[in-house]
Amino acid sequence: MIDIAHLRKDYLQASLDITDVDPDPIVQFGRWMQQALDSQLPEPTAMTVATVDATGQPSARILLLKEFDARGFSFFTNYASRKGQDLAVNPRAALLFHWVELERQVRIEGSVEKLPEAESDAYYRVRPLGSRIGAWASPQSTVLPDRAWLELRVREAERELDGDPQRPPFWGGYRLRPSALEFWQGRPSRLHDRLRYLRQPAAQPIDGAPVAEGWRIERLAP
Ligand SMILES: Cc1cc2nc3c(=O)[nH]c(=O)nc-3n(C[C@H](O)[C@H](O)[C@H](O)COP(=O)(O)O)c2cc1C
Repeated sequence: MIDIAHLRKDYLQASLDITDVDPDPIVQFGRWMQQALDSQLPEPTAMTVATVDATGQPSARILLLKEFDARGFSFFTNYASRKGQDLAVNPRAALLFHWVELERQVRIEGSVEKLPEAESDAYYRVRPLGSRIGAWASPQSTVLPDRAWLELRVREAERELDGDPQRPPFWGGYRLRPSALEFWQGRPSRLHDRLRYLRQPAAQPIDGAPVAEGWRIERLAP
């Protein structure tokens, strides 16, 4: 047995208070992403994406975040993959970033929609040719007889697609529209800082002006 139970590390780098963060969680996420990029982390845009299937079984895998803005967080994959099948029956997901070197994690939850076809087309076009062919050749998440089967499929796809493949109908993007985001900063003695943003829907006017959609920020116990 490898003894891992005694491994322990204190988190000392930074702190996080409500007065430090932007009222808009997307702006705050952008700040942390920029710091992750500036710190030259190996895969700053890699995130764990958790989905749940029709039986309630969760599954998780790493994907690359490709875009984020007020509309949400986008990633690209095979729509027929395991995650694609999960999202077809249960269009909700959780995203998780762990920026180890910065002692930070960000948790994001929300509902997921396919990107409009034009947006998936636009991203597919800028991928390297090998990746565009790979998207056609690989029936993602299905069982293969062996590696040679896949390589043969790639060679066939190269011949058939003739150099300039269009996006496969079974491949494209999703956008997660967040309902909650949590920013976590490691602190000494496991007394970490956790700030959660919850989306507040626009409220009906009672006496006066309607209340616009916004975000509530709260501190969670570590
Ligand atoms: C760093 C990293 C980045 C990845 N990026 C993607 C991605 O953007 N899209 C994708 O479909 N798979 C990506 N993968 C592979 C997925 O983790 C996963 O194996 C694949 O999507 C099949 O998942 P599924 O069977 O749960 O659908 C990446 C894996 C790693 C380790």
